[in-house]
Amino acid sequence: MSLVTLFLFSLSSIAHSLDIPLVKTTSGTLQGIAQHKDVLAYLGIPYAQPPMGALRFAPPQPLVAANSSQVLDSYRSSPGCFQFTYETAFADRSTGYAESEDMLSINIWKPTHKNSSEGLPVMIFLHGGGFTSGANGMPQYSGLEFVKRERDVIFASVNYRVNLFGFPNSPALEDKNLGLLDQRLAVEWLRDNIAAFGGDPKRMVLAGHSAGSISIAYWSFTYAAEPIVKGLFEMSGQPGLIPTDDGTSWTSLANKTECANEDKTAELECMRGIPARTLKKAMSAINFLAFTDPVIGGGAPIIDNTTVFSLEGYAARRAAGNFSRIPLLVSHTTHEADAVLPFSPTIGVNTTLSSLFTMASFQCPVSAIANATASTGVPTWRYLYNGTFPEVLPYDWMRAFHGSDLQLLLGQVEGAAYEEVGEAVRELGGYMMDAVAAFVRDPEAGLEAFGWPRYEVGKESLVVLGGESKAGAEFVEPGAFDAAACEYL
Ligand SMILES: *[C@@H]1O[C@H](CO)[C@@H](O)[C@H](O)[C@H]1NC(C)=O
Ligand SMILES: *[C@@H]1O[C@H](CO)[C@@H](O)[C@H](O)[C@H]1NC(C)=O
Ligand SMILES: *[C@@H]1O[C@H](CO)[C@@H](O)[C@H](O)[C@H]1NC(C)=O
Ligand SMILES: *[C@@H]1O[C@H](CO)[C@@H](O)[C@H](O)[C@H]1NC(C)=O
Ligand SMILES: *[C@@H]1O[C@H](CO)[C@@H](O)[C@H](O)[C@H]1NC(C)=O
Ligand SMILES: *[C@@H]1O[C@H](CO)[C@@H](O)[C@H](O)[C@H]1NC(C)=O
Ligand SMILES: *[C@@H]1O[C@H](CO)[C@@H](O)[C@H](O)[C@H]1NC(C)=O
Ligand SMILES: *[C@@H]1O[C@H](CO)[C@@H](O)[C@H](O)[C@H]1NC(C)=O
Repeated sequence: MSLVTLFLFSLSSIAHSLDIPLVKTTSGTLQGIAQHKDVLAYLGIPYAQPPMGALRFAPPQPLVAANSSQVLDSYRSSPGCFQFTYETAFADRSTGYAESEDMLSINIWKPTHKNSSEGLPVMIFLHGGGFTSGANGMPQYSGLEFVKRERDVIFASVNYRVNLFGFPNSPALEDKNLGLLDQRLAVEWLRDNIAAFGGDPKRMVLAGHSAGSISIAYWSFTYAAEPIVKGLFEMSGQPGLIPTDDGTSWTSLANKTECANEDKTAELECMRGIPARTLKKAMSAINFLAFTDPVIGGGAPIIDNTTVFSLEGYAARRAAGNFSRIPLLVSHTTHEADAVLPFSPTIGVNTTLSSLFTMASFQCPVSAIANATASTGVPTWRYLYNGTFPEVLPYDWMRAFHGSDLQLLLGQVEGAAYEEVGEAVRELGGYMMDAVAAFVRDPEAGLEAFGWPRYEVGKESLVVLGGESKAGAEFVEPGAFDAAACEYL
């Protein structure tokens, strides 16, 4: 490259970044990045003080007022929380993603231009990962393709603490479901700041997958009176067995460190002082994963009667109408468990077990929430994803597994593909983005205008997507479909 070209090249890249409007927020003034001519991204925006040192295992603390003449580079996502993973068909125990305790951040994708002077609707996304892993910056959670296609919607994704760091159950702690409190503070931050990005704080919808979806199910009760958002989108995750707290997992973890102490306050202080990696190592050596051991608890949300209640508590609150009565879109896939059970690469999973697991943990809880919500008159929609596009299936035996709909919805099929991506999968992905964007723009009436009937038992109102590996939707009566599955339990 000649000096002149180099000079011109650097001039143009400077001009490029100067073109991108700075955004003033309560976290400081942000310099974003253009990821496409139509999409700007502001990534890794801190929304709370780093939960480190004395703040480790503490509820998230708002940032102290930032110096607004200080410009923060918001070019890249923050690291994720330290991860606790287990082996599935997709992942071994290491995610390869950067980890840190300084990770309470939000990623925002917004259209470069908007035509109306009104604020844009916002989709806020909570990632999954069993409350033990996951991060908003992982490539499969990018909002780029969604905003590129929809053009008048903002996409924001939230990092929250997971596993021991987000859900420590030390007997010395008052608040233990910290990851859920992180989510709340992030949504409050968006309410207070999204207008600066061109968004409308009164038109936000909360969406989540898996553990993110379970979080939203909790949210609708915890914040019954003040949900902030105007619609909920719960993908493949409903509360199942919710552990109560007896402190055992915390104690057995502390026993693996130098901190074990009968004096639980002293133990907690010590646990705040040791390196995060030491905690990760201690955690990895025990089964600190609530959903493989629903009795022990710890490392995932536990019943505290503030942020999380028992299933009976939820049923009573629902019956009393004590939940946020805002529109709900709820979904699952036909063979969720294909991606979470032990498997053989050649033979696959035990399909009987996969069906049972899918029915018990996904289909019937989703059916129950759809039935109950719709019967109170709250606008409810429900879809079932049944696509088996070979290009996005890692093994021939896999069917519509946990998360397979999310790849299409966020337009991440190229990144996830195992062979050339065909037209049908792209077409269905676009259709799904348009449907969800219709819900985000107008949670009350958007989906009906889009052509999806409200969920109602006895009517053809269960939206089936991707059947026969084709684009488009079919509408079937849900009662018969569920009766066969849920009676079986
Ligand atoms: C704010 O940041 C600017 C730029 O870094 C600096 O010049 C100024 O002194 C800071 N103001 C305060 C009150 O810290
Ligand atoms: C804005 O209007 C122009 C011209 O009508 C159109 O091409 C563009 O797609 C619109 N942009 C959005 C975000 O709707
Ligand atoms: C922790 O260690 C103490 C002392 O060795 C022991 O009595 C206790 O049973 C251990 N607790 C757990 C949960 O491992
Ligand atoms: C939550 O409430 C239930 C029912 O009132 C009670 O049995 C349980 O002990 C409470 N749990 C906590 C952690 O407060
Ligand atoms: C509704 O639920 C909230 C949170 O669970 C609780 O604080 C409130 O007392 C309940 N209200 C009624 C009327 O039961
Ligand atoms: C598959 O799972 C079912 C249900 O748990 C069990 O009865 C059956 O023995 C399993 N089949 C095999 C081949 O392991
Ligand atoms: C929802 O209602 C339909 C029709 O009554 C029923 O078949 C289905 O089993 C219900 N779902 C659950 C989980 O009870
Ligand atoms: C899902 O698709 C398969 C074909 O791939 C079909 O046999 C099955 O009936 C579909 N399931 C539902 C619930 O539509």
